[in-house]
Amino acid sequence: MTGNLPLTKKDFPEGFRWGIATSAAQIEGAAFEDGKGPEIWDIFSRIPGKTFGGQTPDQACDYYHKYPEQLGMMKELGFDSHRFSFSWSRIMPDGTGKVNRKGVDFYKSAIDRMLELGLMPNATLYHWDLPQELEYRGGFLNRDVVNWFTEYAGFLFETFGDVVPMWSTFNEPIATYVGYALGVFAPGRKLEKFGRQANHNLLCAHGSAVKRFREIFGRKKDVFDPAGPNVGIVVDVWHHHPARPDDPGDAALAELENEKAYRSYLHPLFKGGYSGALLKYMADNDCLPDMLPGDFELIRQPLDFFGLNCYNRVVDSTDPASVRKSVEFAGGNYMDNGAEFYPKAIYDALRILKEDFGVGIPVYITENGTYNCEEEVVTGPGGTERVHDVTRIRYIQGFLEWLKKALDEGYDVRGYYLWTLLDNFEWPAGNSMRFGIVRTEYGAPSYIMKDSACMMKDFLRP
Ligand code: NOJ
Repeated sequence: MTGNLPLTKKDFPEGFRWGIATSAAQIEGAAFEDGKGPEIWDIFSRIPGKTFGGQTPDQACDYYHKYPEQLGMMKELGFDSHRFSFSWSRIMPDGTGKVNRKGVDFYKSAIDRMLELGLMPNATLYHWDLPQELEYRGGFLNRDVVNWFTEYAGFLFETFGDVVPMWSTFNEPIATYVGYALGVFAPGRKLEKFGRQANHNLLCAHGSAVKRFREIFGRKKDVFDPAGPNVGIVVDVWHHHPARPDDPGDAALAELENEKAYRSYLHPLFKGGYSGALLKYMADNDCLPDMLPGDFELIRQPLDFFGLNCYNRVVDSTDPASVRKSVEFAGGNYMDNGAEFYPKAIYDALRILKEDFGVGIPVYITENGTYNCEEEVVTGPGGTERVHDVTRIRYIQGFLEWLKKALDEGYDVRGYYLWTLLDNFEWPAGNSMRFGIVRTEYGAPSYIMKDSACMMKDFLRP
């Protein structure tokens, strides 16, 4: 961080989007209301030990009932877009076939409210909440997921395509890998081969949904039109660096982790296949997925935009215990929550997209944010409660400085979405990881402003 005077939105291009990002399972609550079918986190979170304190998405932020006031807060703070996800099992309780009208009506009302408030709706079709009925049929391990997803996507494109300008097929495909290979996320399966197969099927489902999108709305426009409708995908880039760059073990480890993580998506999406390094890893480790002829043409559909989620980098070592973070990492800089403060990650990720993968379409930063920044509630002189979260303010400003540098150098970035408005259901961590700029308790009627919310309001002031 430079410590210069804080930036404001006037330092960014005219028309640059400033949004709040959320996802259905993390904020909606009403998990069993109005015909919604169960999704994998409703079930997984009930397995003892899987989430902090056994917390579930049942209530979350109760956005299902409180969306008018929560969207109003986004507007009040000065944001002009809301990135949200549809809950597949609220739209189709069994994942395919019958549509739940009340679910459709809920999203219609929420989108109408966004439009009234001047919040551009930016929709994600899948943010980690597979209908449980589909999981019973094998979930992402069943190749039929390609058809199931395309049916669901097609329904939403046809229903909301005229009012939603931006569509992402999947958010962070790696979460599906984590859910099938590592057992830490829903559905809790644990085999490397499952993770690789689930990811391959997911990528095919992405490609098939994009094809459906083009069938409905026509071929990709030559010039990006923010008015849409546009389609893309959201991938998180956490670039792995070797802790000791001259140590061949550390370097090889970081390289392999990059192959197994973000490159395993970017390669097929932009280069038309898995990299040689990943194919070798998968062959050596008996986890090559079943692939059909034509899969890579299917996956590599031309996209209108790319969604980049960026939170940090990762530093790897074959001997982590001996590498003391703050002592041996040059420039090591850690926040109170234990995470490294490395805002250059956003610049690095944009460079990787452009230089390593030739991404020439507009990029949106679809998520950036941090958690647990001295989150105590204090009472000010007027009796108003506040949360002083100075670390979050520094974190956001640091990332925005590097984002501005990228823009100044000509990177085509069109928007930035903060994760997130309210403390919400942070997957296995429940509400023990607080990412909001406004503090809330699950289902609670009150909201307590954090200093970062006020900073954003100043930043976004017209
Ligand atoms: C990425 C995910 O998309 C979102 O669901 C999650 O809450 C944030 N990162 C923070 O971990």
